[in-house]
Amino acid sequence: MADSEADLLANIRVQGEVPRHIAIIMDGNGRWARERHMPRPFGHRSGVKAVRAAVEGCLEVGVEWLSLFAFSQENWQRPMTEVSALMSLLEEFIAREADDLHRQGVRVRVFGDLERLSGPAAAAISRVVRSTESGTRLGLNLFISYGGRAELVRAARLLAEDVAAGRLVPDAITEEAFRARLFTADCPDPDLLIRTSGERRLSNFLLWQVAYAELYISNVLWPDFGCTALYEAIRDFQGRDRRFGRVGT
Ligand code: IPE
Ligand code: IPE
Ligand code: MG
Repeated sequence: MADSEADLLANIRVQGEVPRHIAIIMDGNGRWARERHMPRPFGHRSGVKAVRAAVEGCLEVGVEWLSLFAFSQENWQRPMTEVSALMSLLEEFIAREADDLHRQGVRVRVFGDLERLSGPAAAAISRVVRSTESGTRLGLNLFISYGGRAELVRAARLLAEDVAAGRLVPDAITEEAFRARLFTADCPDPDLLIRTSGERRLSNFLLWQVAYAELYISNVLWPDFGCTALYEAIRDFQGRDRRFGRVGT
């Protein structure tokens, strides 16, 4: 029988070390809806509820950073009706959750090509980023209209601008200098990368940052990925031997 949520939580606490930063590719909303003979946006709506569960779970165990892939650059190629439904859900999520997130000490930031977002969506994002600025318990990074390669190209462009302006010499382009120009410059790299719905690919998410993340593929579709599934992933992580190229312990 699967462990109960309380048992898992107790086990996680006994084990001690919790990932500081968890990244999640939230996948499977469409299939979840199809299984119920419902349109895809129905799955996305349920997926938003799972975001709340993930935040609660991270707060409960003391994860410091949670990075969620919500909408990729490539997702703009989906039918306009689906894109609009996703953007409306984003606005709805922010309107409903902003106060609670602030109260819980969650600091929200949103990364990606936000210029492509509609006025109302961009305004909602600015609002929640501002209103949660003082949060110190959990950093919640939402990746929207995001592509990992685009983030790397942006970092390269920022470095080139500094060199062209005489602020930086090419020899000073180190890994640290590069990292400092990523969206995630002030967070540690993810320790654990979770992808739901059984797909085994990165789909252009955080290409630089996941260099040494432990990968966890769950067959659960994102709308069903609650606290229990998150705790199972953390338990699994706690059993990993992270060697970073060295000899194992
Ligand atoms: C993830 O679910 C949400 C987004 C990519 C926005 P999908 O919409 O990709 O669901 P599937 O993969 O079609 O089941
Ligand atoms: C990745 O999921 C993007 C998000 C979860 C936001 P996709 O469903 O878009 O990825 P692919 O198309 O299966 O690679
Ligand atoms: Mg998908």
